[in-house]
Amino acid sequence: MATAWPYPRWIAHRGAGRLAPENTLAAFALGHAHGYRMFECDVRLSADGRAFLLHDDSLERTTDGVGEALARNWAELARLDAGAWHSPRYAGERLPTLDAILAFCMHHRCALNVELKPAPGDAQRTGEVVAVEIARRWVGTPPPLLSSFAPEALAAAAEAAPQLPRGLLLERFADGWLESAQRLDCIAIVAEQRAWSAETAAAASAAGLHRLAYTVNDDAEAARLLGLGLDGLITDRVDHFRP
Ligand code: G3P
Ligand code: MG
Repeated sequence: MATAWPYPRWIAHRGAGRLAPENTLAAFALGHAHGYRMFECDVRLSADGRAFLLHDDSLERTTDGVGEALARNWAELARLDAGAWHSPRYAGERLPTLDAILAFCMHHRCALNVELKPAPGDAQRTGEVVAVEIARRWVGTPPPLLSSFAPEALAAAAEAAPQLPRGLLLERFADGWLESAQRLDCIAIVAEQRAWSAETAAAASAAGLHRLAYTVNDDAEAARLLGLGLDGLITDRVDHFRP
């Protein structure tokens, strides 16, 4: 039997889904304005080891930069425009540091799900640096939930800050998922919504794991997942689902 789930049920994906430039402070502010009190975001490292928010390995889709983010130092990344790609009114929005996002969440008493999104080959460093920063900086309860598709990043986070809760991200329930979650001492499985069935939900629950789904943007799917007893739903549609 899992312990009580200390986080809100509804979680704003990348800050505010697609309504604002993903993984920016403007997105967090918009998600918050829509009543959301928990956020998911993607965190990785610059070449010189600064933790910041960015989903992709490369800069092109969501900034005016080019190439791999991991090849740049933070001083360069901090100058990029991370909002104009979305819409003119967000021009000038910057890539936020993890530190700025932690400060936002603590100030507004919001919960946070930090997805460790390491660049290829950078999983161990990412897990360690991010976990250490959160452990040093975060004040309040509940602490940020660290999640990742990269077991190596979660293992490094567990080593650096074992007290921070971890969730294993899954696109599907492949062989060995439970052993992985148990080896990493995870408290939750965060699975792609279609991967949750009565069987997988029961298996996770029987193992004492909390259950979350991403990215839930459809009413019928939300109702199905809540019917299965899931603890958390990560959504883009912060203007549609009332948290
Ligand atoms: O953390 C859940 C979800 O964000 C995982 O997929 O690609 O949106 O980061 P992605
Ligand atoms: Mg993510």
